Amino acid sequence: MRFMQVAATACAVSALAVAGLAAETAWFPRAAGATETPAPFTPPAEDAIPAGKFGDEVRLGEQIFREPGEHAAAYVGNDLRCSNCHLDAGRLAGSAPMWAAYISYPAYRSKNGHVNSFQERLQGCFRYSMNGKVPPLGDPVLVALESYSFFLAKGLPTGEKPAGRGFPALPKPALAPDYARGAQVYAENCAACHGADGLGQSADGKVVFPPLWGPRSFNWGAGMGSIKNAAEFIHANMPLGMGGTLTPQQSWDVATYIDSQVRPQDPRFTGDVAETRAKFHDNPNSMYGRTVDGAVLGDPKVTPPAGTVPASKAEHK
Ligand code: HEC
Ligand code: HEC
Repeated sequence: MRFMQVAATACAVSALAVAGLAAETAWFPRAAGATETPAPFTPPAEDAIPAGKFGDEVRLGEQIFREPGEHAAAYVGNDLRCSNCHLDAGRLAGSAPMWAAYISYPAYRSKNGHVNSFQERLQGCFRYSMNGKVPPLGDPVLVALESYSFFLAKGLPTGEKPAGRGFPALPKPALAPDYARGAQVYAENCAACHGADGLGQSADGKVVFPPLWGPRSFNWGAGMGSIKNAAEFIHANMPLGMGGTLTPQQSWDVATYIDSQVRPQDPRFTGDVAETRAKFHDNPNSMYGRTVDGAVLGDPKVTPPAGTVPASKAEHK
């Protein structure tokens, strides 16, 4: 596993042990009392990728998914990888796997008010999660990612919601999610890897632990910027290799903490924070436009621009 090699050079012996555990637990843990769901689909193994032109495309798609900053640099504006959030390179059930996504499009999305093709859905990830530029439809980057996702979905019927799509639902917390409690959960369970400043950690020019906020993380338009999505992802998958160990309350609290930090502007910014909130963030899961520690989140004075260009490798921390 690529991450483990990197982690080894990075120091963290305990993190390495945890990452090893992650590799063995192919299935996400289920919250106590959750209802039984059918076993999720198993995508074909990597060695089942065929030889020839189509197989080459699938392999390229997987490389882009694992290292978009190297293989799709023109479209990436931060230090994240697709596989940072879609774990096991888009294979892991409960971590928005690509096989479940592939068979779920075309689909209507309220986010943009029309039916989206799978390629258009991919474009959204570059615009928001990667804080980058949108590859045009038919661009080799999108064709490769589509080929990889198509390959992973081999044998999965279309038209039904497969078990393991998206993130496992999380019950509403007993207490309203709280920033201060979230800060404590963060310090105790997350800071060792992601840094007390949330900016992540790099070694030898490679990001080992991805940034959760700051100028090199996802922007305000991203799915992970929704407290609900983040709470579900975190509960299922974090701390890495120990998914399911935080309580739902802790997951909501720490998600609130992370999604109350400074990050790049929403690319749909109208020029006015209140108006942008009203248009795109008018729900309890977004902190955009709210005041935290005396600053208005999204205020251009404290907010890095959207679509920032990647730092060169030499500039990495
Ligand atoms: C910061 C975390 C993050 C990164 C990085 C990220 N994504 Fe996502 N992605 C999400 C979240 C969260 C969702 C669910 C969003 C929602 O439901 O609004 C999602 C949804 C998706 C979906 C739709 C899934 C479905 O079941 O409908 C696809 C496809 C996808 N991402 C592909 C990618 C690709 C390709 C990349 C890299 C270019 C990428 N993502 C990078 C967090 C991320
Ligand atoms: C042992 C180290 C480790 C710990 C502890 C840890 N993480 Fe992570 N986290 C990672 C790694 C590594 C990834 C990327 C996974 C991959 O690429 O396979 C990640 C990915 C993420 C992501 C998605 C990527 C991004 O940058 O937004 C979020 C959100 C996240 N972690 C939140 C948390 C939270 C919250 C905690 C504490 C409850 C936590 N993590 C604890 C190592 C860790």
